[in-house]
Amino acid sequence: MDRVLNFYPGPSELPLSALEEAKSEMLDWKGTGMSVMEISHRSKEFDEVHNETIALFRKLFFIPENYAVLLLQGGASLQFAMIPMNLIAAGSTASYIVTGRFSDNAYKTAKKVSGVHLAASTEKDGKYFRIPKPDEIGIREGSVYCHLTSNNTIFGTQWKSFPDVKGVPLVCDMSSDILSRKVDWGPLGLVYAGAQKNLGPAGTTVVVIRNDLVEKSSRDLPDILSYKVMADKNSLYNTPGCFSIYMMNKVLKWVERKGGLDAIQKRNERKAKLLYDVIDEAPDFFITRVEKESRSFMNVTFNLVSEELEAKFVADAKSENIVGIKGHRSAGGIRVSIYNSHDEKDSETVASFMKRFIKENG
Ligand SMILES: Cc1ncc(COP(=O)(O)O)c(C=O)c1O
Repeated sequence: MDRVLNFYPGPSELPLSALEEAKSEMLDWKGTGMSVMEISHRSKEFDEVHNETIALFRKLFFIPENYAVLLLQGGASLQFAMIPMNLIAAGSTASYIVTGRFSDNAYKTAKKVSGVHLAASTEKDGKYFRIPKPDEIGIREGSVYCHLTSNNTIFGTQWKSFPDVKGVPLVCDMSSDILSRKVDWGPLGLVYAGAQKNLGPAGTTVVVIRNDLVEKSSRDLPDILSYKVMADKNSLYNTPGCFSIYMMNKVLKWVERKGGLDAIQKRNERKAKLLYDVIDEAPDFFITRVEKESRSFMNVTFNLVSEELEAKFVADAKSENIVGIKGHRSAGGIRVSIYNSHDEKDSETVASFMKRFIKENG
């Protein structure tokens, strides 16, 4: 069977080369006579792939020396809890900018752990179609960090640059745009992301944390929840997501072969432009509620005039081998997720389909 054109928002398409390599190594990895899923995480073979993955991620994402890279589990959702547990000491606070469902989850989870402050929210009638303006953001004095979500997967908005938060370290959920563009590490204290969009299969959560924050993190936590313990043990305190780390290694090598982050970023910008151009040429047909300056390069969202037409759009797309484009249940409409692994041809195919769909149904 042919592979489909897969635009699911995560888990999502992986580079074909990574899948093919894994397939060929499934029964005998590195001459061990086993797959990576069957060997000890303390073995020399796994240790090599684990350390190489961390080193390659550091190199490709230009992570400065004074940050630790941790490969944890529990998804980005566990970080919603681990971050305040580790970083908010008794009597201190943190500020949260809420621009979507996941940043709202992060905020609500942190509220259960500690007193946190809502610095801004762009919620309107339960939906979020924009990134806040600088003058809408009010950081609480004494905040130990300010949390934001760089790309809002459900509604399709994205920060183009980080806001000025007056020297407070930014803590950023990059689950849906990690390693898709260059970032300015200067204001960042901690970055985290589930692997399942741009880095590999689900099962690994990457945390990049500045060393001073590791040192300041709470000592009173169970080991499994402690950044300090995980950093001291090189993320091998307990059994890691071995298969997912092994796949991440292959995805990172693919990124390197593609020309690294610069090339990936340019490709991502071109891919998004192809779709937004079609939307902008037919604004009465492809209705986008996302503010133009807030548009995501990873998740392109839009509506059609009726739910019936949206259902037809999804069904017609499927008949052309295009899958995974139905919008999230809380946002409705259509969402085309164009993460790193997609090439420009995929966007061109969707853009052509959209143009044909207007002709046939407009
Ligand atoms: C921006 C963002 N944050 C957090 C999450 C939740 O991630 P997880 O399922 O890894 O806990 C998602 C999932 O799609 C996401 O897109």
